[in-house]
Amino acid sequence: MSRPPLPLSLSGLEGAARAALDPGAFGYISGGAGDEWTVAENIAAWQRLSILPRVLTGSGKADTAVDVLGTTMPHPIIVAPMAYQRIATPDGEIALTRAAAATSTTMCLSTLSTVSAHDVAIAVPGTHLWLQVYVFTDRELTHQIIESALASGYSALVVTVDFPVSGRRQRDVDSGFVVTQAVPAISATGMDGAFQPHQTQSQIDPRLSWTDIAEMASRYSVPLLVKGILTPDDAVRAIDAGAAGIVVSNHGGRQLDGSAATATVLAGIVDAVAGRGDVMVDGGVRRGSDILRALALGASAVMVGRPLYWGLAVDGATGAQVVLELLLDELANALILSGANSARALHRGFIGPA
Ligand SMILES: Cc1cc2nc3c(=O)[nH]c(=O)nc-3n(C[C@H](O)[C@H](O)[C@H](O)COP(=O)(O)O)c2cc1C
Repeated sequence: MSRPPLPLSLSGLEGAARAALDPGAFGYISGGAGDEWTVAENIAAWQRLSILPRVLTGSGKADTAVDVLGTTMPHPIIVAPMAYQRIATPDGEIALTRAAAATSTTMCLSTLSTVSAHDVAIAVPGTHLWLQVYVFTDRELTHQIIESALASGYSALVVTVDFPVSGRRQRDVDSGFVVTQAVPAISATGMDGAFQPHQTQSQIDPRLSWTDIAEMASRYSVPLLVKGILTPDDAVRAIDAGAAGIVVSNHGGRQLDGSAATATVLAGIVDAVAGRGDVMVDGGVRRGSDILRALALGASAVMVGRPLYWGLAVDGATGAQVVLELLLDELANALILSGANSARALHRGFIGPA
């Protein structure tokens, strides 16, 4: 029996993921904190930014290449770090890494992966890999996780700083969903049984400080990015602490509901960083035109989260690859239609009134 064709929009894939997963798992993936105002605003704020296209500018071809951390990337999409991907598909993080590799996309693996950083690197050789870091109270364990990833070729560390405690996720409260039901053990650490998923929140150090960031930035040989920045002041502090860049993020609206939508704070943060580091952004990126808006405001790349999880749930690596290909096709189309043609040619003049 042949499979039904995959939906060819991200919102269509969300509907298919809802049908494919049990309600608790779908709620964990798609939900956010509180009333999910920030979840919705993340999407709406991109849509409110109008675009000012230029006409008669080019060849009808798009160049999506961008410069990130001093290297050229073929396009500006990065896989956002997301925990426990075996909830969606048996291969978990390996499936998403395959989709990333097939589209020359950088894969940022979560500390809370269900496959070790080493095993991901072995399973999909040649992938451009970054490691997201939750700093645990057990600093030795944190260090071991990082060292193991670096030895496997991971080329940047993305330290998440907006998780002193978990946000209150109403859908999980209502469904009673806990990750242990779906994922038997954390092996992200490469240390099976180090602790169980429901224990991870208490392992993440709520007292992480700027001094720790500075110490980590100087300790490791690869660039360090600070993920979870929403104000210009914090962006500057991160760069002053030695970060090579930041990710403007409210954790996809999963932490403090009411936090500003990332599209609304991006430009001010880009201005404050003033070229001293790379500024990336995530939250609510659902169309190629959203990526165009982010780059025009000064981001060097975007991270995409939930849509990839939906793709995994619907058809594993193939489903996630469809998400990436859709976004890449839409971005190329938007670049041509905006008259910028090249991602590097975008600037604030392409953004019109809200
Ligand atoms: C199911 C799920 C798990 C996540 N796990 C992590 C994580 O382990 N570490 C992290 O830094 N961010 C995590 N995030 C946040 C994402 O990295 C990203 O900031 C967010 O999903 C972007 O918003 P979007 O989903 O609207 O694209 C998670 C997000 C989701 C949806």
